[in-house]
Amino acid sequence: MANRIPEEKVEQVRSAVNIADFIGQYVQLKKAGKNLFGLCPFHEERTPSFSVNEQKQIFHCFSCGRGGNVFSFIMELENLSFPEAVVKVADFGHIELPATYTAQSQPAAPKDQQQADLLKLYADSAKMYQHILVNTELGEPALKYLHERGLDDETIQTFGIGYAPANQLLLDFFKEHQTDYQLLRQSGLFIENQNGDLRDRFVDRVLFPIKDASGRVIAFSGRILKQSPNEPKYLNSPETKLFNKRSVLFNFDLARGAIRQQKSVILFEGFMDVIAAYRSGIQNGVASMGTSLTDEQIYMLERVTDTLYVCYDSDMPGQKATDRALKLLGGNSRLTLGVIQMPDGMDPDEYLRANGRDKFVQVFEDGKQTPTAFEMQYLKHDLNLQNTPDQLTYLQAVLEQLAKLSSSVEQDLYLNQLVTEFDLDKNDLKAQLRSLVGKQAMQRNDRGAQNMTPPPETAPLAPPPATVDGGTNNNAPLSRVEKAERLLLYRLLNDHDVWLRVMAIAGFHFIHDPYQQIFVYAEAYFKTHNQFDLGNFTDFMADSDLQPVVTSLEFMDVASETSKEEIADLVNVIMNQQPLVLQINQKKAELTAAKQMGNHELVQQLTLALIELYRKQQQVLAAQEPDYF
Ligand code: CTP
Ligand code: MN
Repeated sequence: MANRIPEEKVEQVRSAVNIADFIGQYVQLKKAGKNLFGLCPFHEERTPSFSVNEQKQIFHCFSCGRGGNVFSFIMELENLSFPEAVVKVADFGHIELPATYTAQSQPAAPKDQQQADLLKLYADSAKMYQHILVNTELGEPALKYLHERGLDDETIQTFGIGYAPANQLLLDFFKEHQTDYQLLRQSGLFIENQNGDLRDRFVDRVLFPIKDASGRVIAFSGRILKQSPNEPKYLNSPETKLFNKRSVLFNFDLARGAIRQQKSVILFEGFMDVIAAYRSGIQNGVASMGTSLTDEQIYMLERVTDTLYVCYDSDMPGQKATDRALKLLGGNSRLTLGVIQMPDGMDPDEYLRANGRDKFVQVFEDGKQTPTAFEMQYLKHDLNLQNTPDQLTYLQAVLEQLAKLSSSVEQDLYLNQLVTEFDLDKNDLKAQLRSLVGKQAMQRNDRGAQNMTPPPETAPLAPPPATVDGGTNNNAPLSRVEKAERLLLYRLLNDHDVWLRVMAIAGFHFIHDPYQQIFVYAEAYFKTHNQFDLGNFTDFMADSDLQPVVTSLEFMDVASETSKEEIADLVNVIMNQQPLVLQINQKKAELTAAKQMGNHELVQQLTLALIELYRKQQQVLAAQEPDYF
């Protein structure tokens, strides 16, 4: 790249933004010891092995081995080039970069050209659909429809809503721009007939762009203007390389900040509900794509919050779906759950339109239910509580729910409600609850005995860090040599005296390639930098795959002080692994030097060492001899 962002600028951005704040946008971090821990955003996991060191401003995942500084983080997460990453972090820190850099970073070469082309295609399509909605006569009926549903122009902008008119335009638009036919086919925006001819998939529909977690359009969902029995109300893009329904949450990109601020997320059923809430100031809402929540989506949410409220339609199907969602989440995630229900069987969007913003917002403030309170109400749905058998069925079902609660205060609260509602004796209820608690505990024990499963949660928090033998995800214990290499490299980088001493050893090099490469990088680095700066050095190696290795060194538990003896030991352990020829050459060089210095004692030592090495070499050769015949 001809016009790099100067190092001072990069430095300024890096020092202005705290890595914990930046990563905190994507990962929920909790303090544990001197580091922050969270669930790694680069792979799926249940126990946190992703760690951020605020003092050193680096991150490292003890499970997958990824690591680096704030720029490497976002490069890896969003597949950005280095300048793009700097621009993104600068943006977060409200640091102005000269336009030349921000402009220059735009067309940065993407790692996957086809993916970049698709993203561009979707971005262009979204623009064009919105243009038709907002600025053209063709869009008027759709715009009127949206206005009638209470969406103002600002909301339409925010969500990038558009309109695909009845007379198809998209195909012609892209043909005019000579867009590649294969790309059009892959986009999912067209339907292909037997001859391979394409036509627009979305016709006469209001279009909601579906965006990934970074806010890039990856699909569309189109709502029909007037419901018709022959056509689905919503039509989604088919799955593509970029769009996987299971791992997308509508509005996650815009909601993330609010989710963190509010420390909770609200899960809605429909796009229109998310949008209704958003324009009323409740901006921590998301929706799945017309399906029940998937594991992938639960992971996404667990990373950014602890608390989830289910706010589905309050009609019967909505309540059923709520019950299902609570059961799914209850068994499957560590999120604290709650329910918010609109009154009168309405969906949130309907309620807002019928009752106005203040009343709507009030429901979110006052109408929060615990899952148990919801269940107690839901369990009534197909019972007639006027007759005694149904009453008993109901009480039994509720008590079974209560038996699962861990808080006796909560149990007591609901028992009191039952006492009042059914005019019962509290002691009787308590006795029955106790017997159910006992039964459930026994069932759990039985199951435990049958499966003989070891107790969960005993796995160590952090397996050993990224190493090179056997890849970065090596949980096997390190060899003695590699341990020595890692510690020595850490010392070399962090203590310049050690650096100078080791550089003076003729013929020194590391056994494992990555450590040697870092050593070579460091040599170049120290030619232009007086002292080691971790963030800066990480950038220096931005084009290599070595950042995680350097970062993992910084996460080692090492004594703060080193000594000459420690370094000598480490060097010896490493040098002893070097091929004999190298060792002999090195000892010869040292011997020459010792002779020149007139250090007789050393000369004697080295001579003995050399003899020993020659002897070893003889042995090795003798052992190899049969091979030559
Ligand atoms: N959905 C879908 N396909 C359908 C109907 C619904 O994919 N044929 C999905 C959409 O994502 C929709 C969600 O399910 O947002 C909820 O459906 P529904 O409650 O019927 O839609 P509403 O959000 O109430 O839509 P509207 O208010 O526009 O009628
Ligand atoms: Mn609706």
